[in-house]
Amino acid sequence: MSTERTLGVGVLGLHEGRTLLVALNHVIPPPVGPTTGSATRAPHARAVAGCDLSADKIAGARRDCPELFYTQDYAELLARPDVEIVAIYTPDQFHGDHIVQAFEAGKDVICTKPLVNSVADARRVLEAGRRSGRKLLVGQSTRFFESFQRQRRAFEADEVGAVEFLEAHYIHRMDWYYEKSAWVAESTDWVYLGLSHPLDLARWYLGRIDEVFAYGAQSALAKEYGARSFDIYTVSLKAADGRIARVLGHYGLHELPSARNCIELVLYGSDGTSLAQYHDMRFSYTRPDGAEVAEDMLYSKRGYYFNNEVHGMHYGEFGNYAEYFAQALLTGVEYSPGLEEGLETFCLMEAVRRSAQTGQPVKAAPLLAEIGL
Ligand SMILES: NC(=O)c1ccc[n+]([C@@H]2O[C@H](COP(=O)([O-])OP(=O)(O)OC[C@H]3O[C@@H](n4cnc5c(N)ncnc54)[C@H](O)[C@@H]3O)[C@@H](O)[C@H]2O)c1
Repeated sequence: MSTERTLGVGVLGLHEGRTLLVALNHVIPPPVGPTTGSATRAPHARAVAGCDLSADKIAGARRDCPELFYTQDYAELLARPDVEIVAIYTPDQFHGDHIVQAFEAGKDVICTKPLVNSVADARRVLEAGRRSGRKLLVGQSTRFFESFQRQRRAFEADEVGAVEFLEAHYIHRMDWYYEKSAWVAESTDWVYLGLSHPLDLARWYLGRIDEVFAYGAQSALAKEYGARSFDIYTVSLKAADGRIARVLGHYGLHELPSARNCIELVLYGSDGTSLAQYHDMRFSYTRPDGAEVAEDMLYSKRGYYFNNEVHGMHYGEFGNYAEYFAQALLTGVEYSPGLEEGLETFCLMEAVRRSAQTGQPVKAAPLLAEIGL
C-alpha cells in the first residue's frame, strides 16, 4: 500500500492491551519474518495513548512504551485528536459501553473478542454503529495467527476444494485466569470468553449458521472457582447452506499440549484436508498425491509473533489485525470481521449458550431479529 499516513491508536485496558502497545511500537526482534517486509509489525498504525483504571497497569505499560500519553480516565483518552482508533481490552461485560462511547466520540474501534456478551449490548452497539457511521473490527486474534493465515491462503487458492465439514476447538486450563481476573467467574460465560475463537473460525469458513445444538457441563475447576457458566461445551452446527461442523471448548482440563494444541481448526475439503494449530505454529495438509505435509513456523516466526519468547503473548496477531484495519480505513477496502459479522457471531455464541441451557436446538434467525440484524 502506498499511503504514508499512519493512524493513531489509543488502547483501553492495559493487561491484554499492553500487548498491542508493544506490538505496534517495538521493532520486531530478529529473525524478521519474510512476510513482514518491515521492521515494524504495523507500518500504518502507531500507538499514541493508553488508559486503565489501575495505576499499576499504567506503570507497567509505561515501562514498555514510555513515550505514550497515559490516563486513568477513558473520557480523556477519547478527547484526544491523535487517537483515531480506540482498541478495547476491558472485561467482556464492559465492551458494549466502551464501544458506544468511542463511536459517540467519533472514533473507529478495534474490540477484542468477544465483541459483546449480552443481547442488550448487541442491540446498543449496532444502533450506535449505524447512527455514528464509525467502523469496527473484532480482534479475532486466531484468524491473524500465522498458521491460520497460511491455512486461509491455501483455502483461497482452492487447495482443499470445497469445505464439506470442519472441526474447531479451543481448550485451555484456566486456573491462572480465574486467579488474575475475578470477573471471569462472575460476569461472563465461557461461551463468550473461550468459544468465541472456534465459533468465529466456523463462521469464517461456513458463512451464516442456521442452527446449533449444544451440551454444557462444569469441570471441577469451574466449581472450585465458583464459575456461573458451563466451562465445557460441545456444539454441533448447521450452516444456512446445509454444511455441518462441530466445535469443542473445555476450560478446566488437564492439558496434553503436544497431542492437542489449545486451538485447532481442521478443514475437511472435497480435495484435501488441512489443520492449523495455536499455540504451536504448525500447518499440516494433504498433498494431491495423498502425502501429509507439516510446516512448522514456530522458530522462524517466534520473533514476530511471540517477541522471541518460544510461546507468549499475541504480539504478532494483534499487530497483524491493527495493520489490516488501519489499511482498510485508509483505503476504504472491505474488511472482516466487522460490526455486523461480529454481531452475527455474538448471536451464534448466544444460541450455543441457550441450547446448552435448555437442551434444545436453537435457530439463529430469531436471535438475529432480536438484535436488529
Ligand atoms: N486472544 C485474545 O484476543 C484475547 C486474549 C485474552 C483476553 N482477551 C480479551 O481481552 C479482554 C481483557 O482481558 P484481560 O485478560 O486483559 O482482563 P484483565 O482483567 O486482566 O484486564 C482488564 C483491564 O481493564 C481495566 N479496566 C476495566 N474497566 C476499565 C475502565 N472503565 N477504564 C479503563 N480500564 C478499565 C482493568 O483495570 C484491567 O487492567 C477480555 O474481553 C478478554 O476476553 C482476548
